[in-house]
Formats: sequence, structure tokens, C-alpha cells
Amino acid sequence: MIQACIFDLDGVIVDTAVYHYLAWKRLANELGFDFTEAQNERLKGISRMRSLELILEWGGIRKTAAEQEVLATRKNEWYVEMISHMTPQEILPGAKAFLEAARNAGLKTALGSASKNSSAILERTKLLPLFDAIVDGNTVTASKPDPEVFLKGAAALGIAPADCVVFEDAIAGITAARAAGMKAVGIGQQETLTGADMVVPGLQFMSIEKLNKLAANS
Ligand code: BG6
Ligand code: MG
Repeated sequence: MIQACIFDLDGVIVDTAVYHYLAWKRLANELGFDFTEAQNERLKGISRMRSLELILEWGGIRKTAAEQEVLATRKNEWYVEMISHMTPQEILPGAKAFLEAARNAGLKTALGSASKNSSAILERTKLLPLFDAIVDGNTVTASKPDPEVFLKGAAALGIAPADCVVFEDAIAGITAARAAGMKAVGIGQQETLTGADMVVPGLQFMSIEKLNKLAANS
């Protein structure tokens, strides 16, 4: 029986995926190269430092660990500047309503995000009270597709992994959810999110009824 919903943040609850993309693109451009949208898909869900490693690899650029810290900090400063202007209007369609519906149905809710900026975003969008637990980049050591973030979310809620459903827009996140022994609802396109138990274009297309059907199919 489904007892908890664990939500990724960027690209599921808020449209910050585009800010991450713009900031990484600016960094790559300053280093003299660019990357494709398909490559950008691979950056979704993974940590800041792992994203940088991939981008440098695509650009054929080698940097020392200290230089990488400087570059990641620069990207984060641009990103933080962009999210500092966020308002509740940037909550993705249906996200708030579905969080409320889940809570009203007696389900627990947790955030399971790789981001170290999650509390700033939840505060700016006023969504903090809708989560029973927050697990983010400040509390996990292994990046998605490792299941750590979701297992910690389930533990924080006191719910067995098999009774949790994860909502994710990233391939790495779907893999992490499955590795945690949880059901995975993909937010985005079916072709991209192969491996999810079900895919919807956004949380406005999700309902408690669909969630129950998902549970019944297991
Ligand atoms: C994830 C994003 O939620 O958080 C990634 O999908 C991002 O793109 C990661 O790299 C880390 O975010 P932050 O805010 O700690 O740089
Ligand atoms: Mg995401």
C-alpha cells in the first residue's frame, strides 16, 4: 500500500531545471564550448560537482580539484542569483495541488533532491510546510542514481521503501528510485524516462486515483 510520496525538486516541483541549464551553459561558453540539450538531460538529478566533471569532459578540458571548486562556485553564484527572484508563481502546474491532495489522503510527503539550494527554493515558493521531511544535497553523500537520497527520505518518514512512490524528471532519479525498491513516476516524456512505472507530462496530470492504480498493478 502506498503510504508516502517522495518528490524530486528541480523539474518536478519547480522549474529550476532551466536555471541550472542557463548557468552551466554560461560556464561552458566562457570556457569556449557548448553542449547539447541531450547532454543537458544527463545533468538532471546529479550533483553539482558530478555535473561539472561531465561538462569539462564534454569540452575536453582538464582542471585541478581546486580549479573545479572555483568553477562550481561561479556557476552556483549565477544560479543562486536567478533563484533569489523566484516566487510561488514558479511552482510547476499541479505541483502544489498534488502535494495537498496527497497529504489530505493521509500520505506522508518528503523531498528527495540532490540540490544544496533546496531550502532557499522552498522558502521562496512557500512550499516548506507541505513536506514532512527534507532530504537534499546537504545530507546525502552519494549522488543519484545511487538510492541514498530516497532511502533516507523513507527512513525520515518512517515508511518502508516498498510503500513509497518517487516523482522524478531525471533518468538518474528514476534509476535511483528503482534501486531503492520504490515505484517511480516520471515527470516528462515517455521516450526519455524509460524505466519509470508510469510517466505523466506534469503533476497536473497526476491524481490520488492514478496513484492507487499504480499500487494495484504491483
Ligand atoms: C538537482 C538538479 O536537483 O540538483 C541538478 O537536477 C543539480 O541539475 C543538482 O546539479 C545540484 O543542485 P545544486 O543546487 O546543489 O547545485
Ligand atoms: Mg529534477
